[in-house]
Amino acid sequence: MRQSRRDFLKKSSASAAGLGLIIPDFSFFRKISPNEKVNIGLIGARNKGYNILSHMMETGQVNCLGICDVDRNILEKRIEDVKKSFGQIPKGYGDFRRLLEDDAIDAVIIGTPDHWHCLIMVLACQAGKDIYVEKPLANSIEECNLMLAAARKYNRVVQVGQQQRSGEVWNSAMAHIHSGGIGVIKRVNVWANFPYGMGASKVPNETIPKGLDYDFWLGPASKRTYNPNRVHGNWRHFWDYGGGLMTDWGVHLLDMALWAKNIQQEPMSVIASGANYNLASYCRETYEIMDVSYPMEDYFIHWTHTAGLAIGPYEKPYGVEFIGDKGAIIADRGDWKILNGNKDESEEASKLAKANFNFTGKSAMEIHVLNFLRGVKERIATNCPVEIGRNVALYAHMGNIAVRTGENVLEWNTKLGNFKGNSKGNSLIQSEYHGGWELPSV
Ligand SMILES: NC(=O)c1ccc[n+]([C@@H]2O[C@H](COP(=O)([O-])OP(=O)(O)OC[C@H]3O[C@@H](n4cnc5c(N)ncnc54)[C@H](O)[C@@H]3O)[C@@H](O)[C@H]2O)c1
Repeated sequence: MRQSRRDFLKKSSASAAGLGLIIPDFSFFRKISPNEKVNIGLIGARNKGYNILSHMMETGQVNCLGICDVDRNILEKRIEDVKKSFGQIPKGYGDFRRLLEDDAIDAVIIGTPDHWHCLIMVLACQAGKDIYVEKPLANSIEECNLMLAAARKYNRVVQVGQQQRSGEVWNSAMAHIHSGGIGVIKRVNVWANFPYGMGASKVPNETIPKGLDYDFWLGPASKRTYNPNRVHGNWRHFWDYGGGLMTDWGVHLLDMALWAKNIQQEPMSVIASGANYNLASYCRETYEIMDVSYPMEDYFIHWTHTAGLAIGPYEKPYGVEFIGDKGAIIADRGDWKILNGNKDESEEASKLAKANFNFTGKSAMEIHVLNFLRGVKERIATNCPVEIGRNVALYAHMGNIAVRTGENVLEWNTKLGNFKGNSKGNSLIQSEYHGGWELPSV
């Protein structure tokens, strides 16, 4: 009789797999040959989750066997979308645990709000699925640690949705930086000034819309009266579900600052300040304005955001400026260029630096999903494994925690995995689970 993944996982005490290593496979997991399709289940389908699924479907390398969403309106629409656009009819679920029971599903996409990532991912690991999980990895440092432990314990292939790790713009910029093109980096400035960071305009509480299982949407978060500003997209501005611009864009862009020096270690300390004006008209807990410094061993990272107008340095609403001792680079998702004080020379130098890189013109998302599917088939680590997702999430969460404690400066104890002498900061490392849900144990 075929042993199921669940049977195996109940018995298994598989050893940990490290960053960059081949991820062990087991003969009774379905082996997927290069020409075979990967069977996918999508959990959380409204926006990014469906975007990832579409990219996967467009590769022609996947079957969508199931879609789960706690909002029946979204679920039905997305099943219809898959039918119309890709000619497949996925099974619909309102409870992700039922989707995870389908042994035919090889991998899941987790496209829910951040407060759900950990529980779903840990249970998916235990059900033997590989996982494409959206960023930030989780809504707390404690959850990030559990997700890393689960991926390692159950030998799962994980791609975190930091697609910049696969993007040709960033890879070519990193190739130039790593070759010493701008000398030794001493500072990286990162900014993200987006209007949506203000939150939505205040509206009164309403009755729960038909079709939305609001209690399930809240899940492990505290019980709250329904307000449309808490759910569908707007959840980002409430601590129970997200971390505002600091984590939403922070993990994408701070990751570039870490990648520039291939940093895998946790932050040493953070110095942060933040402010919230305009709270009379906007519905938001996360900070409108933040400045966060990360003093590293031999360079300095600075993050800043101002929600509201989409303007910023170099006329970019967001960007990353890498400053070396021989030159600088300014980059966003669209392009990068070398800055050396002379416009013509800078353009020429940028052209030359990019000439050696093999640009295919594929989008970051296209490459990121292809890279995940290859990881699943070949049992190899992806471009953004859980270790990278966890580490940058720590940097971003620490910025928020430093401001929330009111202390502004926090030192991290890598050995103990907590803040030195700061009990309030340490309480914010953890997640409290409510509504009958329990923090998973790994
Ligand atoms: N990588 C990127 O560029 C990028 C872009 C946007 C969003 N994201 C990330 O994607 C995730 C989702 O963001 P979004 O903008 O799509 O949010 P969203 O609110 O638009 O969609 C989330 C969906 O998840 C559903 N959901 C909530 N709890 C669920 C549960 N327990 N089971 C099943 N479905 C559940 C909701 O009903 C909703 O349909 C977030 O982590 C976000 O940070 C990443």
